[in-house]
Amino acid sequence: MNNRTYIKDLPTKKGGEVVVKAWVNSCRNQGKMIFLDFRDISGVVQGIILPGSAAIEIGGTLRDEFVVEVEAKVNERPEKQRKPDILNGDIELEVLALKVLNECSVLPFPLSEDTILINEPLRLKYRYLDLRNARMQKNLKNRFKVQNFVRNYLADENFIEVETPLLSAPTLEGSRSYVVPSRLMPGNFFSLPQSPQQYKQLLMVAGLEKYFQFARCMRDEDARGDRQPEFTQLDLEMSFVSEEEVINLNEKLLIAIVQKFYPEKKIQTIPFPRITYKEALEKYGTDRPDIRGDKNDPNLLAFLWIVDFPMFEKPEEENVDEVAEWTFTHNPFSKPKDEYMEKFMNKEDIALILTTQYDVVLNGFEIGGGSLRNYKPEALKKTFEIMGYNDERIEQNFGHMIEALKFGAPPHGGIAWGFDRLMMILENEPSIREVIPFSKTSDGKDLTMNAPSVISEKQKNELGINFTKK
Ligand code: AMO
Repeated sequence: MNNRTYIKDLPTKKGGEVVVKAWVNSCRNQGKMIFLDFRDISGVVQGIILPGSAAIEIGGTLRDEFVVEVEAKVNERPEKQRKPDILNGDIELEVLALKVLNECSVLPFPLSEDTILINEPLRLKYRYLDLRNARMQKNLKNRFKVQNFVRNYLADENFIEVETPLLSAPTLEGSRSYVVPSRLMPGNFFSLPQSPQQYKQLLMVAGLEKYFQFARCMRDEDARGDRQPEFTQLDLEMSFVSEEEVINLNEKLLIAIVQKFYPEKKIQTIPFPRITYKEALEKYGTDRPDIRGDKNDPNLLAFLWIVDFPMFEKPEEENVDEVAEWTFTHNPFSKPKDEYMEKFMNKEDIALILTTQYDVVLNGFEIGGGSLRNYKPEALKKTFEIMGYNDERIEQNFGHMIEALKFGAPPHGGIAWGFDRLMMILENEPSIREVIPFSKTSDGKDLTMNAPSVISEKQKNELGINFTKK
């Protein structure tokens, strides 16, 4: 009898004998009899070791989270003890034989209850234990289900998923980049991407027309509830599209996700309302307003598009780059709206120029943003001229993009969702850390792996790195 039965399938085996491989979810030793709960990836089932059973001796050594192989009979529970509302509520396993596959040390925190109340650094250090928690497993499973659905949905719309490099050059998304020293070119650095923005545009030049990717993005900024230094975007780009087409496709996909996986949730308004950046500020004082009719309703989803953003703004004092006269509000690759193209090319009324940028907001969180792009080389160059960059700097930082646009680049545009943020809201979680398997602390550390950490002298020498203490 080697065939393992998953716990969720036990109801089909009533009256039969099975082998279950599982963790001891809980264990109550009453001396003559032992009551147990077993747990595998598919669910939980109650078990009992009866007096006189051959398994009673080993049963006495069990503790929570031991890993066991159990031979058992699937019995119906006596009428009075049935719990019709829970999985396996009408059956129990009568343990016939028991093997301990592995033991478990004293746990740093109990796993029997939701771990949300446990001190977070401890949860993150022992994330592999935290992830045994039912809520965390649900979050990971649902994250995967939504991801899988999106992949299939976009594949049916003729998108292809393309992986873009992680070792790359600075991508200029408005925050700091993480850098990686090059061993073969000491003193030179790769940058980790803040997003696949430039690569996805190059894929449009390559003629792919419809690209998407679940892309890992790295931004060296302070973490908070809805922000992590490393996060996942659903990134997409399309050729020959209007703003309207990008918005419609994304809106349809968001609605389809909610309807398929969260039928208990209600979308406040379909089609999603659209307001301009100016209206948002005037009416709500923010460009990511929470427009829910009832903010206490956990099942209400209020999506909203914000459009017509200004293209440029004056840089904030603390970020003033020595040459920046203006900085982009969202994305340096965005195209102005058609009616502002002439002013843009003539560098007139810079503060008044509106861009094709659109953001999608959900319950007060910005869950995505995108735009149509400047696909003519002279237009892209104009953005950097307006920002006050000289020709040398433009060539050095963006020469490759401007050159690519000279080779028959199609008009194109796209968007990226903050996928963790979307999942956080759909799962009613208070922070994106609850939907990211190995998330970092709010001060940017990976406590599971103890990173960042010092590197060896040998490695420093190879990389040609010297540090001075601040
Ligand atoms: P943007 O910088 O607006 O656009 O990012 C897109 C979306 O990603 C999410 N996001 C984050 N989520 C978690 N942690 C972070 N640190 C973090 N930073 C951003 C947000 C945001 O709306 N390349 C462009 C997209 C495009 O124009 O196509 C970009 O990255 O939900």
